[in-house]
Amino acid sequence: MKTRGQSAICVADFRHTVDACLEDFLQRKLRAAAAHQMPDDAARSLRRFLFAGGKRLRPLLCLTGYHAAAPDRVHPGVFQAAAALEMFHAFALIHDDIMDRSDTRRGQPTVHRELAVRRGAGRGSADRAHLGTSAAILVGDLALAWSDELLHTAGLPPDRLLAALPYIDTMRTEVMYGQYLDVLATGKPAGDLATPLKIIRYKTAKYTIERPLHVGAVLGGADAGILDACTDFALPLGEAFQLRDDLLGVFGDSVRTGKSCLDDLREGKHTVLLALAFQRADTTQRTTLDTLVGTPSLTDADADRVRSIITATGARDTVEQMIRTRYEQAHKVLDDAPFPAEATHTLRRITDSATARTA
Ligand code: IPE
Ligand code: IPE
Ligand code: MG
Ligand code: MG
Repeated sequence: MKTRGQSAICVADFRHTVDACLEDFLQRKLRAAAAHQMPDDAARSLRRFLFAGGKRLRPLLCLTGYHAAAPDRVHPGVFQAAAALEMFHAFALIHDDIMDRSDTRRGQPTVHRELAVRRGAGRGSADRAHLGTSAAILVGDLALAWSDELLHTAGLPPDRLLAALPYIDTMRTEVMYGQYLDVLATGKPAGDLATPLKIIRYKTAKYTIERPLHVGAVLGGADAGILDACTDFALPLGEAFQLRDDLLGVFGDSVRTGKSCLDDLREGKHTVLLALAFQRADTTQRTTLDTLVGTPSLTDADADRVRSIITATGARDTVEQMIRTRYEQAHKVLDDAPFPAEATHTLRRITDSATARTA
């Protein structure tokens, strides 16, 4: 292992380094496509998606987990492992946007919408949409396969890679079950809170925070104490992160989030926010929610009516309070966690930005 100083994993620079891994990898894929007379728009769409934005939270957590376990050294392959997590995330989001019928992500048309336009000229609209969906499923599949390739070509010490693989396997299974539960619950929001709390634990808290920290920490040789502290920190933060996402999904500024603020209402997502509104609505409010939530043609004016009910029932305030409680819990865990000071500092900054974010 190469040994460098504590600043080896410099969070200010991490994005540049992770993105360079992704760019270099995709350039090789584009050259390979050309050499085999394959269409290059699959790799181009993926590249456009990856570089349209994104907070790079999972790579940052992976690198911070590594630093928590191995503060004095860094293996350069860890950046490529972090890039592999971002490539996996691209897969998850491209498929999520198909499932959620989302038109916009990171301020751009979603991959299935983009490919429908790019490749569907001359077809009828249903046919064009189907082509876009089929092509985007495949672009997502490529991202999944390429996330594996990034990981196993990172040049990591074989024993460390072997130790990390079960955490990656678990992360994938957890997020897919979380997404599966989300899909099953969509379209019929109700007052039940246990379902959305379970969904956000799996589709977000474990996937976005806990496992990326674990993967990095295991690559750094973490002991059980570090891994347990990662979990204790990650679950409240991850839930707060998704609760914020649910608020932004209804009340957010779509210019900042890069996503529509009608999608969750049109789909009838069984979020904690909507569950609380359904639970507390009086008869008139309930009739309005039943009529409008889950309506694909929901207008901006309809959305405003739903928003005012969510606010009037106190559901919005309660979700803010739930975020606050989890935020405080995450910080409290860090007070006693067996992490070096620099890792703790980075995790505190992540906790602040992930819970107070507007994008
Ligand atoms: C979106 O993840 C999906 C959720 C788990 C809420 P991010 O909010 O991390 O999305 P990007 O990568 O920054 O676009
Ligand atoms: C996506 O969840 C979570 C993933 C694991 C990809 P959402 O559907 O709630 O997130 P956004 O709002 O589309 O980013
Ligand atoms: Mg979505
Ligand atoms: Mg979704």
